[in-house]
Amino acid sequence: MGTVAYGLLAKVHWPARERAIRGLVARHFLPAEANRREMIRMLDVGCGPGWLAETAASLGADYLGLDPDPPRGRSDVVEGRAADVAGHLEARDVVIVNGTAHHLDDVEFESLLTAARGAAGVIVCDHARDETTSARSRFLQSIDRGRHVRDFSVFASLAGWQRLETTRFPIRIAGIAAWDYFAAAYRPEASS
Ligand SMILES: C[S@@+](CC[C@H](N)C(=O)[O-])C[C@H]1O[C@@H](n2cnc3c(N)ncnc32)[C@H](O)[C@@H]1O
Repeated sequence: MGTVAYGLLAKVHWPARERAIRGLVARHFLPAEANRREMIRMLDVGCGPGWLAETAASLGADYLGLDPDPPRGRSDVVEGRAADVAGHLEARDVVIVNGTAHHLDDVEFESLLTAARGAAGVIVCDHARDETTSARSRFLQSIDRGRHVRDFSVFASLAGWQRLETTRFPIRIAGIAAWDYFAAAYRPEASS
């Protein structure tokens, strides 16, 4: 999809996703000001146009975007795939996988999660699919360019990760719920 087309569609689907991710970062990963030792960084895997940079700035966080097809002329976005994340990761990172998990096959998704265990946490925001998902949303999931829309049970329990919070929300067009979405925050479980 071209930049212009994505930009138009994003007017519909961006605000709800941005709000959910912002809330999860603020509630789970921003240290209380008094105890603040280090600025977190939002490492945005499959960042597309890199719009979460504005969210990061407004939260007082640093930002790095990673995408196989990065926007030109941005010093805070680098070219790369999810499988390359280890080469960019810092311990202070909150790895954001926003609308990207359904573009990753199981091997690449697992390698991303394994590498991200060296970070502070992960936030996944993606299609929600389970027995409550509407027929309309299932249809939209079936025609998505990403071929790996997963059942929510996969995200309910990611091996090696503690799920901190999940929020489910519809993305609406003209007031009608179109896509069922979720956003979930995780932190790595301590290894035994
Ligand atoms: C639906 S777009 C979401 C973009 C952005 N996160 C947003 O929410 O606006 C999916 C993004 O995943 C990227 N992508 C596709 N395959 C990828 C891979 N293997 N690793 C990382 N990103 C990938 C695409 O280039 C695209 O920018």
